[in-house]
Amino acid sequence: MNPSRIDFFEKIAPYYDLLLDVLTLGHYALFLKRAITLLAPQKGEKILDLCSGTGRAVSWMAEAIGAEGEVIGVDLSKRMIEVAKDRYARFGNSSFLQMDVTRRWGFQNEFDGILISFALHELPEHSRTGVFEKAFLALKERGRMVIADFNPNVSGMARFLSRLFFKGFERKNLNFFEFDQYETLKQAGFKTIQSFSIFGGLFQITLAHKNQHDFGDECKR
Ligand SMILES: C[S@@+](CC[C@H](N)C(=O)[O-])C[C@H]1O[C@@H](n2cnc3c(N)ncnc32)[C@H](O)[C@@H]1O
Repeated sequence: MNPSRIDFFEKIAPYYDLLLDVLTLGHYALFLKRAITLLAPQKGEKILDLCSGTGRAVSWMAEAIGAEGEVIGVDLSKRMIEVAKDRYARFGNSSFLQMDVTRRWGFQNEFDGILISFALHELPEHSRTGVFEKAFLALKERGRMVIADFNPNVSGMARFLSRLFFKGFERKNLNFFEFDQYETLKQAGFKTIQSFSIFGGLFQITLAHKNQHDFGDECKR
């Protein structure tokens, strides 16, 4: 992430959730909840939230996995981690670590589920492949990953609006629209991948299983 973006997240951390909720009229929280529904954390599972921000998604997943489970949120921003700890330290089954997800993780065959929401587009292009490869290694055999983000395959008016937003606020990440998420997940080793378009195609949630998987159940959610 470039220094100006780090600085932005450091400054905005305490107000991030409120700002996003107001700007999107509450749709941001709904989108996150939809992503978590697809990830479907179960009692006793171990979950990793990449680029966890203020820890809001971690707190919802902590409820789902119960006392026997564990959820770890990791984020590069020191302030985001502080805010997350302040708000959710009371959850005994969750913890937050300051970590750069583009570097070495040190997790292997450890997690049932991994979430990355609204952060893949923030990562440098060459690091996205590495993040998928590390996620593949960090997942257990029956593990799955959910990626919730802008829709790189968006077309028509939704593409125009997305690109306009990127040009205004995230110009350095415009290459996200050329990023072939499906192919990159395949190359990282994921066997079963399904994507869902949300809000007129502006956003996308992708569910990728490490091994072969019947998607029947998720599609009904
Ligand atoms: C747009 S916010 C999304 C936060 C949260 N996932 C959500 O959906 O509310 C992007 C987050 O990614 C984090 N981030 C960006 N680059 C990162 C990196 N290389 N390693 C870890 N976190 C990173 C930022 O600090 C920020 O908290």
